[in-house]
Amino acid sequence: MKKREVWASKIGLVFAAAGNAVGLGNLLRFPSKVALYGGGAFMVPYFVALLFLGIPLMVLEWVIGRYAGARGHGSMTGIMGSLFHHANWARVLGSLGVAIPFLIVCYYIYIESWTLGFAVLSLLGQMPEPIMSSDPKTSMAPYVEFFKSYTAPSTFAIAFLLITLLINWLILQRGVVKGIELTARFGIPALLLMGIFLAVVSLSIRGGKGLEGLLYIYTPDLSKIWDPHVWLEASGQIFFTLSLGMGAIATYASYVKAKEDVLKAGLWTAGINEFVEVVIGASIAIPAAFAMFGALAVPELAKEGTFRLGFMSMPAVLMALPLGWLLSAVWFFLLFIAALTSSLALIQPLVSLFEDEMRWKHSKAVNASMLMVVVGAFMSAFVPGFIDEVDFWAGTLMLVFFALVEIIVFVWIFGVYRFHQELTRDVFFKVPKALVYFFAVVSPIFLLGLIYQWGVLQLPKVVANKDVGITLARLFILSTLVFLAFLAVESRRRYLSGPHI
Ligand code: PHE
Repeated sequence: MKKREVWASKIGLVFAAAGNAVGLGNLLRFPSKVALYGGGAFMVPYFVALLFLGIPLMVLEWVIGRYAGARGHGSMTGIMGSLFHHANWARVLGSLGVAIPFLIVCYYIYIESWTLGFAVLSLLGQMPEPIMSSDPKTSMAPYVEFFKSYTAPSTFAIAFLLITLLINWLILQRGVVKGIELTARFGIPALLLMGIFLAVVSLSIRGGKGLEGLLYIYTPDLSKIWDPHVWLEASGQIFFTLSLGMGAIATYASYVKAKEDVLKAGLWTAGINEFVEVVIGASIAIPAAFAMFGALAVPELAKEGTFRLGFMSMPAVLMALPLGWLLSAVWFFLLFIAALTSSLALIQPLVSLFEDEMRWKHSKAVNASMLMVVVGAFMSAFVPGFIDEVDFWAGTLMLVFFALVEIIVFVWIFGVYRFHQELTRDVFFKVPKALVYFFAVVSPIFLLGLIYQWGVLQLPKVVANKDVGITLARLFILSTLVFLAFLAVESRRRYLSGPHI
């Protein structure tokens, strides 16, 4: 067996995993969802989902990743296969866990490229001049226009997309340690610094009016506790932000040393991610909009789409402050670094599939993966409706479904006994078996409830839309699933005939 890379240091490993989890989800998606679903009303199901789904699944993916990595596998195709003598069904089922991150990265990397573009344009003084007005619509108008013409897509947008793709390619070519780990070692401290700085700025706008925004988020509100929509969105956010239900965490975990404390690593990953979400993420976009536009405007802004707060309201607020161009550049660089360390994590499962299962050389594996990403990213840029459609299927529905598959396969079929043995090997705290039983029952019930609600509430609405762009997006999703299932079967032969330890 080819020797697989392992993270060079403990801190590098934690930073890489934090980079994986911390992303646009924390700084853009989270504030938009909170605003859309009523502040404190969203946070109650959010924390429940964190406790009952997020943390247990995080630990599960780390445990399974370590187990499979020691056996030469890092992609869900290989990981699930390795538990069942590489039976085709297990490998094909696992290939879903490569398809999901790949599909997500197709639009994620395009949004990432906007953040880089906006950062550079801010530095170059190319952002529109602010209009001072107490009416949010008026003061945001120049930035709404700017965003629309940028994402049309403009030549700039395409140029920055190419640059972003190139950056990802270069880093992945350098491999797990010299590429991903090194990027995270610089990226995470920079991200924390910029994030804390912007949180302080946002909270202090207009003599601290931004604080009202924080109160809006943290005043618990039980009025919507029975609304299934809020539960769906809050749990969806937990999956997305923690990178769960798609094998992306397990892939990173597969590069640990054989005796790494995966329980600690998992808890650190979740801890840092939540800090950047509920402390930093909560303290920037919403408080800034509160201070500038007032309480009533915020839910209205969020209704107009995920990108309103981050790409239109934030520059409108920041550009109106002294040194606005610089603040705006910091905001978009912050987003870019957060997104970059996540897009690497979204592509790595595919790289691992080509490398560990197809037994291709690293450089060929990266080239093939990036080629696929290029196709998807250009579809995101040019096919209307592509981003939302793929975000619904891959970024929301399939995650929940695959999380259920993970629990069934890794805990039930693999066996509670064996899972528990893996869970308690070389870790600082021996999780009692009763707790494993508890989660093995409670989490799937929670997930089934979500899937049911999704099916009833959202699926019919989504399926009814049959625009050309939407149909193209669905064809793309379908072909990806088929192609990766085919690779799962094809690579099995190669894997089994290859040299073994
Ligand atoms: N968790 C990342 C975010 O919050 C997104 C992501 C999902 C990254 C899955 C890797 C894998 O933006």
